[in-house]
Amino acid sequence: MKFMKKFFIVLFVFATGIIRAQTEPITTANDGKSWTLETKSSIYQIGSSDQGVVGMYYFGNKSQDPTKLRYPLGEEVTVRGGYSATTPMLEIVFKDRVRDVELTYVGSEIQTVDGYKTLVIHQKDKFYPLSVTEYIRVLPEYDLLEKWMEVKNTGKKDMIEIENAQSGTFFLPQNAYELTHLAGIWGYEYQPNVTKLTQGVKTFQVKDFRSFGSSFFAVRPEGEQMETCGEVWFGSLQYSGNWRMDLEKYPRGELQVTGGINFWDQSLMLKPGKSFTTPKMIIGYTCRGMEGVSQNLASYTREKILYPSHRSKVRPVLYNSWYATTFDVNEEHQLALAKIAKELGVEIFVIDDGWFKGRINDKGGLGDWTVDKNKFPNGLQPMIDKINAMGLDFGIWIEPEMVNPNSDLYRTHPDWVFHYPNRTRHEGRNQLMLNLAREDVYQYLYDSFSKLLRENNIKFIKWDMNKSLTDPVFPSAPSDEQRAVRIKYVENLYRLLETLRAEFPDVWFENCASGGGRVDLGMMARTDFSWASDNTDPVERTFIQYAFLNAFPSNSMISWVTHEDWHKQNHPLEFKFDVSMCGVLGVGYDITKWTDKEKAVAREKIARYKEIRETVHNGDLYRLVSPYENNRSVLQFVNKAKTEAVVFVYNLAEYPDNAILQTKRSKLIKLRGLQPEVSYKVEGIDGTYKGAQLMDIGIQFPVRGAFKSGIFKICLLYTSP
Ligand code: GLA
Repeated sequence: MKFMKKFFIVLFVFATGIIRAQTEPITTANDGKSWTLETKSSIYQIGSSDQGVVGMYYFGNKSQDPTKLRYPLGEEVTVRGGYSATTPMLEIVFKDRVRDVELTYVGSEIQTVDGYKTLVIHQKDKFYPLSVTEYIRVLPEYDLLEKWMEVKNTGKKDMIEIENAQSGTFFLPQNAYELTHLAGIWGYEYQPNVTKLTQGVKTFQVKDFRSFGSSFFAVRPEGEQMETCGEVWFGSLQYSGNWRMDLEKYPRGELQVTGGINFWDQSLMLKPGKSFTTPKMIIGYTCRGMEGVSQNLASYTREKILYPSHRSKVRPVLYNSWYATTFDVNEEHQLALAKIAKELGVEIFVIDDGWFKGRINDKGGLGDWTVDKNKFPNGLQPMIDKINAMGLDFGIWIEPEMVNPNSDLYRTHPDWVFHYPNRTRHEGRNQLMLNLAREDVYQYLYDSFSKLLRENNIKFIKWDMNKSLTDPVFPSAPSDEQRAVRIKYVENLYRLLETLRAEFPDVWFENCASGGGRVDLGMMARTDFSWASDNTDPVERTFIQYAFLNAFPSNSMISWVTHEDWHKQNHPLEFKFDVSMCGVLGVGYDITKWTDKEKAVAREKIARYKEIRETVHNGDLYRLVSPYENNRSVLQFVNKAKTEAVVFVYNLAEYPDNAILQTKRSKLIKLRGLQPEVSYKVEGIDGTYKGAQLMDIGIQFPVRGAFKSGIFKICLLYTSP
């Protein structure tokens, strides 16, 4: 690689004594200054030159010959300084206004962080009291690395200003690349956006705390977009709030991928002796196409990210009363809904918005987290007791970070909201955002919700957030902390969630932000599942869910069956259930109005869902047919033992048989991930099939007509020995 040569004089060759034991995820060369990180299918090579420059040499397929890696592609921690040829991870201003950083290698060690080997590389500035510690944690079984960085002011008297501190970066060699990322708007979250990476920088970012997309990225050589094979570099950030991803394509064709907190309109002042640690950036490599990407990310999120105590618990079937009642809630109607929900097989009953003081519509009440005595004169617990007596757990909706101007909280503490003096105040949905960076706001929210949870037998919280961040001013903070308000806010948001979870370990937490406005690994680490979209139209959901499942596991995706019908299509109830059953199933209809026939459908579907949810939630996903390329979508989940698979078929259009050629669509669906040599039985279809037959020839599922669907369980046929 030539473009970095002028910045490095490389006297470093990997052939000199790399000790590569296959079982060790991190190996150090004899010189003690070069390392190989190894996952199932990738290697990541790092080395420090004799001049003390720590560079990355390679990230990709492990069949690469290390002796060929003579030149670094770029620095491990890119800085503003010197030639400034790359996207900087670190931009610093020292007391004397010097803005240039020069890092040099100090030492390294291998630590074990939560059971995984982690390479720790220490660097420091050549002159100023600044140390930079980079962490790279290797998760071999997921083909993933986690990168993060700690920046420390090692001085005794002067502050250091951090204008930018990204979580991680990596370089890819000269090639033509394209990117898939998931972007969206309210109601149309996570739409796959595919773009060529041409010379320049492609940035996707969040400035206002809600993205309706994701920091997920997947980069591959241009033209090689394949679901089931091909090289892909991928990853995501473990951060909520404002983040950014930058993909910079250099004139000679190299690509740099950098991600972390979005330092737009913010900076951090580091006092002497203090340090700042970035959130994590997750990066991975697979040669198994987008299938490898989604399987690795899903397994990692399911097993290492989702809130630990609930990770492996069976997700309950829930009923949520929002669509049935909106703000008009009362005990009698809620109990009527709960009674029917129980008969249908629901396991948790959740009351949504409207239960707290003054909340008759969206114009008031937010912030006053006590029960509305007009609607519930005896409080919530008597109703919860009756719901519990039916055999249902009880859950509740909250929106902690917000306040309506029409609330006691706002009247008492108008200074708690974000609002610049002399500037227009930006309301959204008649509400304002609390400055959660403030300790008193944090304490108020902690007190309100710990009390609510202590006094009522609540087993499920739906945590909503329905307004973009605007006017983020923090006048009561010392001036040197004011521009770190967003970072402090996110710290306190995480702290609040973590404190409540630790204190109420039996409670499930759902993450919602006007639908899927804030779905990321940072929120996932503190919750159990996310509301993917306010759009519950089953056809729209087929698309949204197909994309969501590229980045996140199915047990983290809540999906309700509702009466919402965005295109006036009147879709069959069976179809709606089938669409919701590939995630965490919920029901949101006014079920008191359901006919016996509708109730029978729901009962049967919920019972069926309970039979398949183990495989759907914990199995590997194979996205067999994309709705973005066909007029149908087919998803297959296979359990880890490969003894059971569940296939979801969603037809989005009617195809007469003689149109097959025109639509380029075979009737046969080729399954994936089964054991080739053993026999399987496909529910609803006669005969037995060898795994190889199902995978190489395929099978025709009996689903005919538009907006028709089917769920097929495929089980290993056990023969007696
Ligand atoms: C948001 C959520 C909905 C519902 C309402 C309640 O819009 O996305 O599911 O909870 O708030 O006000």
